[in-house]
Amino acid sequence: MLKTFFAFSLCTVFWGSLNAAETAREPINDRYCTTCHGADGRGNEGVQAPRLAGMEPWYLRRQLQNFRADVRGVHPEDREGIAMRPMATKLTDASIDDIIDWVSSWEYVPAEATIDGDPARGRNLYSGCAVCHGGSAEGNESLGAPALAGQNDWYLLTQLKNFMAGYRGAHPDDSYGAQMRTMVNTLRNEAGILNVVSYINTLSR
Ligand code: HEC
Ligand code: HEC
Repeated sequence: MLKTFFAFSLCTVFWGSLNAAETAREPINDRYCTTCHGADGRGNEGVQAPRLAGMEPWYLRRQLQNFRADVRGVHPEDREGIAMRPMATKLTDASIDDIIDWVSSWEYVPAEATIDGDPARGRNLYSGCAVCHGGSAEGNESLGAPALAGQNDWYLLTQLKNFMAGYRGAHPDDSYGAQMRTMVNTLRNEAGILNVVSYINTLSR
């Protein structure tokens, strides 16, 4: 661990002297994030990797820690989570800090709507969600509930289906995920999921 950190520091110094501007923008050990999450972290539907730009630092940290600790992305049916988990396995606390700085340098651009649903029905369903995620889906740090507005709608659909099926949020150490597993049942079925996400698409932070 110490050795890796030392090697990493040396490498940073060496590489930094070669290419200071680029290293400042992209921590060298973590450059692969954009391979899946898209240029400037805007999300990439082709590999189902969501937008990271604009994500709250506390939420980003918790998800990286959960993937790293095998709390998220472990259920055999959670294909997207399984793709992501190994990306977090080797991150140190220091590189998580680096990533948070790096991600916060990307411009937040709300994702475009790609789904059809019934936003009027979704609005009624969303009233229960607003308690935690906020009336404009802007998120609420004190409750640990992330912003949803502006996130890729295809990603929100997958997450809600995964919470409903118990593919996400079922690990005994995932207390925040457990809250969502309870709440998602108020949507009842896939139609409810589609409608609530189509309403979230109408909101902006
Ligand atoms: C091999 C492709 C791939 C790479 C590389 C990758 N990710 Fe991911 N990431 C994904 C996928 C797919 C998901 C969606 C997981 C899901 O649906 O549960 C994801 C989800 C996430 C999430 C959860 C977002 C949320 O709203 O909860 C975070 C945070 C994240 N990735 C950060 C990173 C960071 C930081 C890196 C670089 C260290 C990285 N990812 C590299 C594919 C990747
Ligand atoms: C009791 C508070 C609470 C309520 C009510 C609630 N949520 Fe959540 N939600 C959370 C928390 C906490 C998380 C973060 C879970 C984690 O850290 O993995 C979350 C996560 C999510 C995510 C995953 C976001 C991401 O980036 O991966 C989605 C989607 C979501 N909620 C949608 C909803 C919807 C839709 C409703 C209404 C049916 C709802 N939530 C109601 C607390 C709540």
